[in-house]
Amino acid sequence: MTGIKIDGKIIAQTVKDRVKKATDELKTEGINPCLATVLIGSNAASATYVKNKHKACEEVGILTKDHKLDESVTQQGLNNIIDELNADVSVHGILVQLPLPKHLNEFITTSRISPIKDVDGLTPHNAGLLAMRKAVLVACTPSGVMEMFDYHNIELEGKNIVLINRSNLVGKPLYHLLLEKNATVITCHSKTKNIEQFCQSADIIITAVGDRTKFTLTPEMIKEEAIVIDVAISRFVEHLVGDCDYEKIIEKASFATPVPGGVGPMTVAMLLKNTITAASLGTQIGR
Ligand code: GUN
Repeated sequence: MTGIKIDGKIIAQTVKDRVKKATDELKTEGINPCLATVLIGSNAASATYVKNKHKACEEVGILTKDHKLDESVTQQGLNNIIDELNADVSVHGILVQLPLPKHLNEFITTSRISPIKDVDGLTPHNAGLLAMRKAVLVACTPSGVMEMFDYHNIELEGKNIVLINRSNLVGKPLYHLLLEKNATVITCHSKTKNIEQFCQSADIIITAVGDRTKFTLTPEMIKEEAIVIDVAISRFVEHLVGDCDYEKIIEKASFATPVPGGVGPMTVAMLLKNTITAASLGTQIGR
């Protein structure tokens, strides 16, 4: 039996349609939602991601500010830019594209963003709220994955879910979001022994390794009718791949996401949604 494709492009469009409506409403109240991005250095993949984010903002009527900083910018220089954006009342959301060049500190950088403009949900404040089940701004990829489950009415309560990722951007926020839905969640990572065994017992696998030379999720590793969400995206022999071969995995899974066209578009759509949330938050506190 072949499973059902979870089509990120279609689901992302439903989110964008809702965001467009919310943006239009905010504009009638005199609020012009605006996202500021900060891109440091010349990482080609990061530049493409940021370009896509700007294009998506334009599609739904969100304004953008584009800060491109030289690779050599100091931590102090970057902090100053973030401080300026925090103080700028016309900016509602701030996104510093990751990864940063080696000499810059990710924690110092993301922590400096005002929590009400933190559209990545990466500040200690917002990450803490998520752990306390009080989140307002949640990391975009995890909330995009949750939106996919929602769209297909996939029940999470009581399910055994294996995450293969423990990052602040993906694995940790997903852990809290899934726990909140009463799933049993196991987080696997590079030091986990017998990852296959965990995968074989999972109803749902969410994988985000992103290096096919180190890890591939094969059909033999999943149980019949499992659900597979492939968050990874990496370049492999001239094309983009995830952690598994979609065409093979969908032969055994009940649902699976392709790469590209799966989780990727959801990340962008949820960024737009967070920007609208941030614009509303700003209004509530009079900024
Ligand atoms: N790099 C890859 N994904 C993301 C993301 O969701 N946010 C930021 N800021 N950087 C990223």
